[in-house]
Amino acid sequence: MTDWQQHYRDRHTPWDLGRAHPELERRLAAGELEPPRPGARALVPGCGRGWDAFALADAGWSVVAVDLVPDLAGAVGERLAERGGRFLVADALSLDWWGADGLQPASFQLFFDHTFYCALPLERRPDFGGLAGRALAPGGRLCSLVFPVGRPLEQGGPPFAMSPAELERSLGPDFQLRSNEVAARRAGSRAWEERWCSFERVSTGVSPGSHQ
Ligand SMILES: C[S@@+](CC[C@H](N)C(=O)[O-])C[C@H]1O[C@@H](n2cnc3c(N)ncnc32)[C@H](O)[C@@H]1O
Repeated sequence: MTDWQQHYRDRHTPWDLGRAHPELERRLAAGELEPPRPGARALVPGCGRGWDAFALADAGWSVVAVDLVPDLAGAVGERLAERGGRFLVADALSLDWWGADGLQPASFQLFFDHTFYCALPLERRPDFGGLAGRALAPGGRLCSLVFPVGRPLEQGGPPFAMSPAELERSLGPDFQLRSNEVAARRAGSRAWEERWCSFERVSTGVSPGSHQ
């Protein structure tokens, strides 16, 4: 199992771009990801050093960023708080952090995934779907930088192989794929293809299920 805390302590964080993903920056600049109303919430699970979370907060989202690693709380929490957001130390896939300060199911309008899904052990992928179903309000969007596309699963990970179809399977029938495109701006050094996929949380009349 990956010891994420140790990675940060050793400063061995090859996934960290030191800035928001350029494709996210491009889409924010193009006005594609504007909050539907002031205070609309965005969830950034597995946020790492928080670059994407800061960019979303700067674009007007009320961001909740979650990561397992307590060492990140100081710097990331502070920078996010300055932007009206907050950082929680938790297993994002657990139910532990729900209920705090009005964090109720279906209270998010955006879920942003960047190298979180592909960092998870394969057996936790259904929990990712459960988290998305629990977090997003009907009509809310899940945007994912799907990576590493085409990497053979036998090569292991993280990052574990990821594809739009696999993500769609994990999300289940409450999500409809709205776009699936090669990322126009890539993270420089990544060997495998990156795609931008966007799903809509559709209302099924079924309340978001438990994912434990
Ligand atoms: C590959 S890194 C990506 C970080 C960030 N999204 C980025 O692109 O820079 C994966 C991150 O997910 C966090 N993580 C892994 N499993 C997690 C979980 N179950 N809940 C919350 N965070 C988790 C790790 O601590 C790590 O910061």
